[in-house]
Amino acid sequence: MKHPPIRRVAALAAFAVAAGLAGPAAAEPQCPQPRFTGKAPEEYLKMPNPVPDSPEAQAVGEAVFQGDGRKISCASCHGKEGDGKGPLSDQFDPPPRDFTCADTIRGMPDGHLFWIIRFGSPGTSMPKHRKLKDDQIWSTVHYLRHLAK
Ligand code: HEC
Repeated sequence: MKHPPIRRVAALAAFAVAAGLAGPAAAEPQCPQPRFTGKAPEEYLKMPNPVPDSPEAQAVGEAVFQGDGRKISCASCHGKEGDGKGPLSDQFDPPPRDFTCADTIRGMPDGHLFWIIRFGSPGTSMPKHRKLKDDQIWSTVHYLRHLAK
């Protein structure tokens, strides 16, 4: 194409403004965040975290959560601070969980967190993580709890 389709881009931008899609992000952070997330099966819910919490476990969890910046990581969606505001987060409904809100995550058993990280949340953008080893996931669960305030 010789000329870029400037008119179409302008029209789209005008539509976005009219529809209230542009401008500052709408939603105020909510704590606790409303959840409509499935519950792990009983066998997972009662699983204790087999990895002791330690600086080593925190480091493993941090590496999983923050990633190496080359691929999508937990932080791409959940934010570097775990506040649910990662660079991709605006695209998702329901939004990524905000782990900084202790009231949201306090009541969730470790086994539930393990299950959702392993298998994802069906019907949402929370993906499954089949390649992570069990120990990496359990360490990430410890890391998530340290993000809470
Ligand atoms: C592509 C974006 C994306 C990535 C990558 C992602 N998440 Fe999520 N995550 C979400 C969304 C969206 C939800 C909300 C799902 C829901 O409401 O059921 C969510 C929810 C969660 C929950 C909440 C479960 C609950 O019961 O409330 C946990 C825990 C979680 N993610 C952990 C992680 C971890 C750990 C990683 C990295 C290993 C990760 N997520 C990667 C988007 C993502």
